[in-house]
Parts: sequence; structure tokens; C-alpha cells
Amino acid sequence: MPVTKKVFVKTFGCQMNVYDSERMSEQLASHGYSETQEIEAADLVVLNTCHIREKAVEKVYSDLGKVRDVKAGRLARGLSTQVVVAGCVAQAEGAEISARAPVVDVVIGSQSYHRLPELLAKSRNDGGRIVETRFPDEEKFALLPDRRIEAGTGPRTSAAASAFLTVQEGCDKFCTFCVVPYTRGAEYSRSVAELVAETERLVARGTREITLLGQNVNGYHGEGPDGAVWSLARLIRRLAEIEGVERLRYMTSHPRDMADDLIAAHRDERKLMPFLHLPVQSGSDRILAAMNRKHTAQDYLTLLDRIRAARPDIAVSTDIIVGFPGETDKDFAATLDLVRGIDCAQAYSFKYSPRPGTPAAKLEAQVPESVKAARLTELQALLDSQQTRFNASCVGRTLPVLFERKGRHEGQLVGRSPYLQLVHAEARSELLGRIIPVEIAAAGQNSLAGVISAA
Ligand code: SAH
Ligand code: SF4
Ligand code: F3S
Repeated sequence: MPVTKKVFVKTFGCQMNVYDSERMSEQLASHGYSETQEIEAADLVVLNTCHIREKAVEKVYSDLGKVRDVKAGRLARGLSTQVVVAGCVAQAEGAEISARAPVVDVVIGSQSYHRLPELLAKSRNDGGRIVETRFPDEEKFALLPDRRIEAGTGPRTSAAASAFLTVQEGCDKFCTFCVVPYTRGAEYSRSVAELVAETERLVARGTREITLLGQNVNGYHGEGPDGAVWSLARLIRRLAEIEGVERLRYMTSHPRDMADDLIAAHRDERKLMPFLHLPVQSGSDRILAAMNRKHTAQDYLTLLDRIRAARPDIAVSTDIIVGFPGETDKDFAATLDLVRGIDCAQAYSFKYSPRPGTPAAKLEAQVPESVKAARLTELQALLDSQQTRFNASCVGRTLPVLFERKGRHEGQLVGRSPYLQLVHAEARSELLGRIIPVEIAAAGQNSLAGVISAA
């Protein structure tokens, strides 16, 4: 038996990082590592990082300061600790990380995770620091071990009712504010066969809901079993045929890739949930052009009309950036107008953060921080009111809820509605992993509460 070592994984950023962390944890499990939630107990610390905004990066460096203390404390007790920085900061900053935080043993970019055990061994044997940030020719997903079916050793590897599945990675769109094309590289779609196989394994361990992930997931164009290029809609229809798959979702989409067959899938495919995260970023056509989004505010609204005609109850979510360089009060007013026109069920909003190497960071007309903050506050008040109103509109309805975890109170479970709302209900723990009708009795800004309908 190999000696069991412990790994502590902390994930920053988007769902793709959550997925990558799961894959790394499972891979490390097959090399004798079990997961721990206590960093002091960890022989290996992995920070899976995000580069999207400056704050996300600062958090990583402040965490590395804490990791340094933990490593020193363990060393005083005669224990060694390896420290890995993975993800988008690793990809973007590479050797700079080792220079700023000598505590780090291995810096590994997002496309090299299949090499993590090998790099850990190399660093242990040579005692040196390793920086691996190439975009390798080989494909990491094909080289990572298959998804585990047996119950795992930690929270991320255990059977989960809802799981992420990366189907597409990277981005060729180059929005002028965004680092993703640089940190994740060129657009790549996994093959249908690989995704069917992985879905079957997820279902075998109890997963009922799968969220298909991609930086531009609706731009998916993977190789089908017939050798043809398949669209996301076709992939969704194929995965929906798998017994045990009860719900499918996808994120994040780009408005320009909302193909007709995908809109039709929202009309026809029962397992495809009526929820769409479709970032718009701004309501000003001038700013949208400067962002290189290649659509107007009206294009977006027209598209939503078509989607809502196909699936009238669809809940729409979006992302918005305030304070992009050159954004005037008038531009911002156009954003507020667009948000009123969209009527969001949910949304994320951010202050523009200049990112090194992106075109927008070099623009002269940067918006002062105080203006960004004021605009964000105003926008969030509007978005919060829309979200509260949407949640309130569900009261009195009976919604199918997939129970995912225990709630904070004894006897309570927490799940998700089709519209991705959190729903709390009194329920026996046998109902975990099952979809149960719940009559919604109360709604708040961030969640619903209900009672299980009498059969
Ligand atoms: N691929 C997705 C989103 C990627 S990043 C898409 O194309 O929409 C997630 C969100 O972060 C973006 O939608 C955007 O709203 C926000 N974001 C990206 N770069 C940013 C920056 N430099 N400053 C502030 N927010 C940013
Ligand atoms: Fe970034 Fe734009 Fe690509 Fe989305 S589409 S990942 S915002 S460059
Ligand atoms: Fe962040 Fe990388 Fe995701 S920059 S948002 S972790 S793709």
C-alpha cells in the first residue's frame, strides 16, 4: 500500500477551475493523496487560481503568505510541504510567481494538469522549482485518468448530484478587457465520444445534473461519432439520451454563438433546464464596439425575444462590467436601460479591472475608481430588485427541486430549481440526489423556501 498523503486544494475563479480542481484531485487520489480541509495537515497545497480581475490575483498572493507560514510551521515539526500554483495566474505570470513567492514549488498552467504528479516528483527529487506554462500539443483531458466512479476521499471527489463537465475550453474572441484568451489559450472542443463516456461515469456515481462548461460553450464544435462536427445543441441531445441524466445546463455563452438549433433545443429538450447565462457586458453600443463584442444592445434584446418565444419561462442571467475605459454617464444610462429591458433572474456585475496585456488596459480614458463604485452600486440595486421580483414570482408554484446537500438546520435539505435558484425544504436525507416537487412558500433575494408537495 502506498503511504497516504494529504492534499489541500483551494479553488478561485470560475466553474472551469472547479472542474479542473476535481480532475486534479482525482488524479492525485490515484497517486495516493487523499483530500483534507485542514491546510496544516496537508503534504501538498494546491491553489487553483484566477486572473480575471486584479482582486482575484491579490487574493492568491495573500494566500501564499499564509501558506508560507504553514509550511514553516510544518517544517518545524519535521514535515515537508509541497506548494503548487495552478490555473490562470500560473499561466499568466509563470516564473514571476516563484520570484514573488519562493514558497511555491511548482507553477503549472491550465493545459498541463496531466503532468502534475510527474512534476511533483521531479521537484521533490531535484529540490528545485518548476514552472510549466507551455501550451502542450497533447490534450490534457485524454491523458488525465478516467473519472472515478467509487465514492471519493474528499468533498470534491464524492458523488455529487450536480457536476460540471468541461466540453470546450479557451477563447478566440479577444474581448478587449479579457485575459481568458491568454490564460486558457485557443478554442478547443472535446470529442462527443469522450464526453459521452465521461457523462456515463458521472451518472454511475450518482450525478443527475450536468452543467456543460466552456468559456464559449455555445461555440462548441466537437468531433461527433460520425466524424462530422457537432454543435452544442447536438451534443445536448445526445447526452440527454443517457439514462440517469435528468438535467442539463450549459455556461458560459456568447450572444454571437446562440445558434438556431440551440434555441430549438430550449423548446424541445425536456432535460435542458430553462436557464440561460448570457453575458452582455454593456448596454452602450459604443462601449460594446470598444469591447470587441461585435453585437449591439438591440441585437441582444432581439435574440432574447427569439429565445423567449421558444421557451417562454426561461430565466435569464447576465454579466455586466461598469467603468470600461471611456464609459460616460450616458453609456452607463444605456446599460441601466438594457438591464430594464432584459429583466434578469440573476446577474453578476463587476467594476472594470485593467488587466496586463489586454488592449483595453492601454486605453487612456480610464474611469476613476469612485465613478466605477457609484455605478456598480446603482446597477446592483436594480439587479437585486429584479432578482427579488423573479424569486417572488415563484411563490405559490410547485417546482421540481434537485436536492444537493444538507442545509444548515437539522432535517433541512438544499437543492436547485430548474431556474438555478437555491431552494430550502424540510426533507429526509434519503431525498438527496433526487428531484422532488416542492411548493414554494417564501422567497428572498438569494433563495426560496418551500414544502415538499404531498404526492
Ligand atoms: N467567457 C465568458 C466570461 C468570462 S469571464 C464570456 O464570454 O462572457 C466572466 C466575466 O468576468 C465576464 O463576463 C465579464 O463580465 C467579467 N470580466 C472579464 N474581464 C474583466 C475585467 N477585466 N474587469 C472586470 N470584469 C471582467
Ligand atoms: Fe473573455 Fe470575451 Fe472570450 Fe468571454 S468571449 S472569455 S469575455 S474574451
Ligand atoms: Fe478566472 Fe481563468 Fe476562470 S481567469 S474566470 S479562472 S478561466
